Amino acid sequence: MSDLNTAQNSASDVKAESRIFPPPAAFAANATISGMDAYHAMCKEAETDYEGFWAKLARENLHWHKPFETVLDETDAPFYKWFEDGLMNVSYNCLDVNLQKGNGDKVAVIFEADGGEVTKVTYKELHHKVCQFANGLKSLGITKGDRVVIYMPMSVEGVVAMQACARIGATHSVVFGGFSAKSLHERIVDVGAVAVITADEQVRGGKHLPLKVIVDEALTLGDCEKVKNVVIYKRTGGAINLTAGRDLWMHDLVANQSDVCEPEWVSAEHPLFILYTSGSTGKPKGVQHSSGGYLLWAILTMKWTFDIKPSDVFWCTADIGWVTGHTYITYGPLAVGATEIVFEGIPTFPNAGRFWNMVEKHKATIFYTAPTAIRSLIKAADADANVHPAKFDLSSLRLLGSVGEPINPEAWMWYYNNIGRGNCPIVDTFWQTETGGHMMTPLPGATPLVPGSCTLPLPGIMSAIVDETGHDLPNGQGGILVVKRPWPAMIRTIWGDPERFKKGYFPEEFGGKIYLAGDGAIRNKDTGYFTITGRIDDVLNVSGHRMGTMEIESALVAHPLVAEAAVVGKPDDTTGEAICAFVVLKRSRPIGDEAKQIATELRNWVAKEIGPIAKPKEIRFGDNLPKTRSGKIMRRLLRVLAKGETITQDVSTLENPAILDQLKEAQ
Ligand code: WTA
Repeated sequence: MSDLNTAQNSASDVKAESRIFPPPAAFAANATISGMDAYHAMCKEAETDYEGFWAKLARENLHWHKPFETVLDETDAPFYKWFEDGLMNVSYNCLDVNLQKGNGDKVAVIFEADGGEVTKVTYKELHHKVCQFANGLKSLGITKGDRVVIYMPMSVEGVVAMQACARIGATHSVVFGGFSAKSLHERIVDVGAVAVITADEQVRGGKHLPLKVIVDEALTLGDCEKVKNVVIYKRTGGAINLTAGRDLWMHDLVANQSDVCEPEWVSAEHPLFILYTSGSTGKPKGVQHSSGGYLLWAILTMKWTFDIKPSDVFWCTADIGWVTGHTYITYGPLAVGATEIVFEGIPTFPNAGRFWNMVEKHKATIFYTAPTAIRSLIKAADADANVHPAKFDLSSLRLLGSVGEPINPEAWMWYYNNIGRGNCPIVDTFWQTETGGHMMTPLPGATPLVPGSCTLPLPGIMSAIVDETGHDLPNGQGGILVVKRPWPAMIRTIWGDPERFKKGYFPEEFGGKIYLAGDGAIRNKDTGYFTITGRIDDVLNVSGHRMGTMEIESALVAHPLVAEAAVVGKPDDTTGEAICAFVVLKRSRPIGDEAKQIATELRNWVAKEIGPIAKPKEIRFGDNLPKTRSGKIMRRLLRVLAKGETITQDVSTLENPAILDQLKEAQ
């Protein structure tokens, strides 16, 4: 919370934004939530009868095998429970329900591989694949409550693997394919996985990258005795080793399986998944989500935020390794019977026109991506007219979305004008791994848009801004973002560490019952709109990926040459924030070519320890770090240095002011 001042400072930059874009009349006319009166009426309903509001939505939107009687159980707060005595199954709600509704022959997934090959899978086919794989997993002895790690490329099979786990009540933990063997190992052990589902290789930008080899390495790092099987999806046919008795191909596993699999009916509170994310300390935390409350919110946000209609072609560009891929690829779109696009690869291969080409080819109507992608595609379009969106027919689009990091007003305007052609609302969705789905976002048929603002909370979400003692702050004053009431899709606990869950998200200073998001925010004086001003803990947001500074520091100090390291974020035009590491070596401070060479070595080291996404963009060497007399690293000064700005703060408490000059030089 020491960074609150930083949050307030950056808030002053965005307060000036005064452009406002009301929803297009035609959009509002057909929208699920049409006009601000409808929005306010829903908020009022939630305020008047909170449990009644959620209970009604849960009855209307989910299939219950056994209906719930209790709605919200607060007896063990902050371990809230929703619809606990109700029995349901997430996969049944995503697949069987659609077959019953007559969507069997509707295309569920349009998959486009890295090289451009397209595969279409109908709801009926997806149901068969999921049932067969679920039966295959059962044949391996995997049952309700077991944890299964999924380390897979973007693929239909990745979605099938997640859905199959849900079908048999196994809890999945997806690990992003860019994480290293060490990170994968840490997650396999922490979650106590009984199996790992992976692929031989993944393909990104024309390159084959290993997956199975990394799983093999992870499983040699110790404490993995619980892992009985590794199931491998054959993506490329690249050479891999199979360990007899443990490893088997996905196609062999499903070969003789029935395409009927009775779902395992589970309590709405049954853990659907555990997804690791970065926090303030070195150890990633396993965010545990429920089944019923989570899926309810995935469905509602598909309807409210994305205004999903049967004719839509929905495209969320996230990876299933992140929460956005869980809620807005694997679960939300399927649960509402949408046709969705799933893509493998990167936005810049075969060229930076890939996204726009795919929108044109598949006639996407809703497009949801991260600001980093937009910013890099702006640069690419400026550099090469052939990949400029003007070259493509984007007329199918009716709605755009942004997720994962603040979108700067310039990028917002470009997105609005060049991709939306001035006709498509942009939903700037603020949420987190912990929240399960959108929390604050414009409603496309109701909310007047302001570039750079996630506007207002969704109905039923009680967001507020408070000071460090938990008291409400007036509009116009930046503070700490909190949510005052539990909501169905919220994190249930940190896997294996309930104390950390309590302390981290429901601190006693705030009364122990208010959810602390970890972000700073400010509300506009006139509109009450929220703008997120950035994390108030030691978490960086690089290209929309959450990275803990302590995680990167621990990786750096694990290198034999490194004595001490401090990592801070630095504003970056493309990635939002970039990682800047200040390093003290056990030997003398390197300079010139040697410094460059060691910096490269350290970058590669971090890639191996955590994954390439954690590589510091800049490394600076010093004989020491700026410290107070009591030995505390002054990160505030490091942030100023990282930005390349002159230090104007009082440095009288600094033990070693001379060090600041050394740390100005980046490698
Ligand atoms: C940031 C991603 C501003 C925020 C879904 C949050 C945003 C963290 C936005 C969660 C947004 C996400 N505007 N900031 N629209 N969306 N963030 O867990 O700092 O990967 O706390 O979830 O991303 O990142 P996570």
